[in-house]
Amino acid sequence: MQKPIILDCKNVWKIYGAQASRIHREHDGNPSSETLKDHGLIGAVRAVNLQIRQGEIFVIMGLSGSGKSTLVRCLSRLVEPTGGEILFEGKDLLTTSDAELIEIRRKKMGMVFQQFALLPHLTVLENTAFPLEVQGIPQADREARAREVIELVGLKGRESYYPRQLSGGQQQRVGIARSLAVEPDLWFLDEPFSALDPLIRREMQDEFLRLQNLLHKTIVFITHDFDEAIRLADRIAVMKDGKVVQVATPEELVLNPATEYVEEFTRHVSRSKVLTVGAVMTRGGDDIKTAGDVGIGQRIEAVADMLEASELPFKVLDDEGNAVGTIGRQAVIDVLVGRVLKK
Ligand SMILES: Nc1ncnc2c1ncn2[C@@H]1O[C@H](COP(=O)(O)OP(=O)(O)O)[C@@H](O)[C@H]1O
Ligand SMILES: [Mg+2]
Repeated sequence: MQKPIILDCKNVWKIYGAQASRIHREHDGNPSSETLKDHGLIGAVRAVNLQIRQGEIFVIMGLSGSGKSTLVRCLSRLVEPTGGEILFEGKDLLTTSDAELIEIRRKKMGMVFQQFALLPHLTVLENTAFPLEVQGIPQADREARAREVIELVGLKGRESYYPRQLSGGQQQRVGIARSLAVEPDLWFLDEPFSALDPLIRREMQDEFLRLQNLLHKTIVFITHDFDEAIRLADRIAVMKDGKVVQVATPEELVLNPATEYVEEFTRHVSRSKVLTVGAVMTRGGDDIKTAGDVGIGQRIEAVADMLEASELPFKVLDDEGNAVGTIGRQAVIDVLVGRVLKK
């Protein structure tokens, strides 16, 4: 069963420049690229429709300047959209009063940005507890909560350090702890790991997945790095020039890129990292002798060694545990050498 939609973003526009609202209105809320250009306007976000479901990691991916940050800021109305509707838990954020909006942001949304933005004269504990202090939560309670999230992000023992005494990765952990301190329903992360070295970035991605396994937040995660996107995402929206060109699972994106732009990103991705058993199994085969079971949703990478080492194929089980097909070495080899064709 599909999870409920937490954030529903309908035909959202953000146009920068003089008279942006008027031009948007006069062109029936749908100005063309030419119109925008003629008026010297920038269509940072154009006609974006997205539904973000409870508990998913929804990644927005695109090159620098494609409109990702503007879109995510529109979603929390840190940037005022030029047009559209944004329903958060059923409520239209664009018609919500400023006071109510501040409440929603403070209590229901968490945000992490590329710049760690820690307060230099506050300790790790104080930085983490800061959003709770702003909410007027008593010191003992907010410190207890801060200690919990500090431990969660792996910084136990460093509560009294100052930001300058921490590495970049550790500083971003504080940023993550601080955003989690308020227990947000919706968690926005705008390129949180982009400023970190590649090795640290991998480590942070693993940490992030570990956290999500514990917390099951609804997450909008922004990156310009396709590898990061496919590692983390349940679904990916690919942006180009302010528009969303495709929304799909990592696997669907690689198998069926909607445009050349998307295909370009997927070209260098190792297929075994994204393709699942279900995409390459052979259906049926109840009577075939098998060596064991694999899950239909497992990535090929995770089962490749086992399948390759076995003469016999494996039985494929769906999420309910029913046998739905078989998969053997040949399928793995086909994936690894890129012989799997588009569906
Ligand atoms: N405050 C602003 N005023 C004018 N143009 C802006 C502003 N913020 C962003 N833009 C433009 O909007 C486009 C999208 O920017 P941005 O959302 O930052 O992209 P991304 O996050 O994908 O790199 C870019 O062309 C950028 O120059
Ligand atoms: Mg950005």
